[in-house]
Amino acid sequence: MFLKKSNFFSKISVKILLWYSAIFISNAIFLFLLAYFIVSATLRDKETTSISLEMEKILLDIQKYGLSNIDKHISHKEKEDFVIEILFKNKPLYVSENFKKLELGNKIIENIKSKKKFFTINLDDKTFKFQIYQATSYTIVVGKNVASTEELLEKFREIFFGMILFTMLLGIIGGLIALRKILLPIKSITQTAQYIINTGKLNERIKVENTQDELYDLSVIINKMLDKIEVLVKSLKETIDNVAHDLRTPLTRIKITSELALSEQSKLNPKDALLSCLDESDKILTLLNAIVDISQIETGSLKLNIERIQLKKLIDDVIDLYDYVIEEHNINLSVKCNENIYIYGDFNRLRQALSNLMDNAIKYNKPNGKISIKALEINDKICLFIRDTGIGIDAKDLPYIFERLYRADKSRSKQGLGLGLSLVKAIIKAHEAKIKVKSKLTCGTIFCIIFHH
Ligand SMILES: Nc1ncnc2c1ncn2[C@@H]1O[C@H](COP(=O)(O)OP(=O)(O)OP(=O)(O)O)[C@@H](O)[C@H]1O
Ligand SMILES: [Mg+2]
Repeated sequence: MFLKKSNFFSKISVKILLWYSAIFISNAIFLFLLAYFIVSATLRDKETTSISLEMEKILLDIQKYGLSNIDKHISHKEKEDFVIEILFKNKPLYVSENFKKLELGNKIIENIKSKKKFFTINLDDKTFKFQIYQATSYTIVVGKNVASTEELLEKFREIFFGMILFTMLLGIIGGLIALRKILLPIKSITQTAQYIINTGKLNERIKVENTQDELYDLSVIINKMLDKIEVLVKSLKETIDNVAHDLRTPLTRIKITSELALSEQSKLNPKDALLSCLDESDKILTLLNAIVDISQIETGSLKLNIERIQLKKLIDDVIDLYDYVIEEHNINLSVKCNENIYIYGDFNRLRQALSNLMDNAIKYNKPNGKISIKALEINDKICLFIRDTGIGIDAKDLPYIFERLYRADKSRSKQGLGLGLSLVKAIIKAHEAKIKVKSKLTCGTIFCIIFHH
């Protein structure tokens, strides 16, 4: 599952290794071949020049002393490496001693006939390079033993071949390291996926080496995706658990009431039993509707009807809804909102969000408490504050109040599903606005919605 501990090679990016392998091998092979061809061409050229020089000397001797006297006057002093033959009408006129030892038979005549200027003949441990000069009546054949040059070139070939092999080996090692670096993260990805499939545990992650290459990016992004999936699955599980828990109470009540109403000894009025069942099924419907609403808004499947809204009108609309309850709780309500403050949004959805905040401000307020609603335009933002003087929210509960079905212990005495603020948050988020909260236990709570122009 885990990648090996960081080492020198693992820090080199895969891309660099592959480039290194490809460029290094091709460049090195090209340079070695080039060097070999330059060296071999230079050495062979040197041999050809020395044969041509020898040939020129013989031609000068022929000019000076005449062809018939050449065997007596030839300046060639039986140089060890050179062999010379002068033919008159294809019959030997002069043959140097070391030429005779070679026993070349018809090989020279064959090459003279083929009209080649230069040719090479290999004998046991010697290699002779010949030059032929053909005049109308005579032919000069000069040969040189080039075995030492060929041996040298043979050595060069061996060295260069060895170097090419060594370079290819280095390239292959580089390639293999790169391949290993590619395969290790892929193996780790596969093993992590297999582990999650086998165990169903989403907490496993790909162990990544910081190589800053594409595979590192892929591993990091998969880990991030797994983080997200883990959070989503956890919240889904919690929601299902909470919904099941919250459905159990009204459903049990419906069951008990129905059983009671159906039993023969029951004194329960069937109409009262039905009314109680209706009440409980209303609670279930409200819970399910709210959950569906939140999901639809969060996933964006519920389209918003965006329009220009006068904020004062929106606030008045919400207050109208709660007029009676505010009066009943003897709450002192103050509203400060300039009539020329406008926002863009879905009127019904925003009214739903404000109603939930208002509902909380009333529900969790103290007797004869206060609620103040204030709208302020600050730079390019519009801030709407809803403040109450209620029981407040404990600091430990504050991070969770926007989660579905979360209710602080202190508020359990009041009726509620714990879905109001989740809905508010979803609506506010869909409007690309923000909601913030500040609260002090026993002193009150202040919610602030920030709209952008
Ligand atoms: N103004 C407030 N004063 C004190 N506590 C609050 C206030 N608003 C929210 N809370 C706390 O946050 C929790 C979540 O609020 P939310 O509106 O989501 O649920 P609820 O009011 O309990 O139920 P519902 O709104 O679904 O009827 C509440 O249970 C309460 O503990
Ligand atoms: Mg509420």
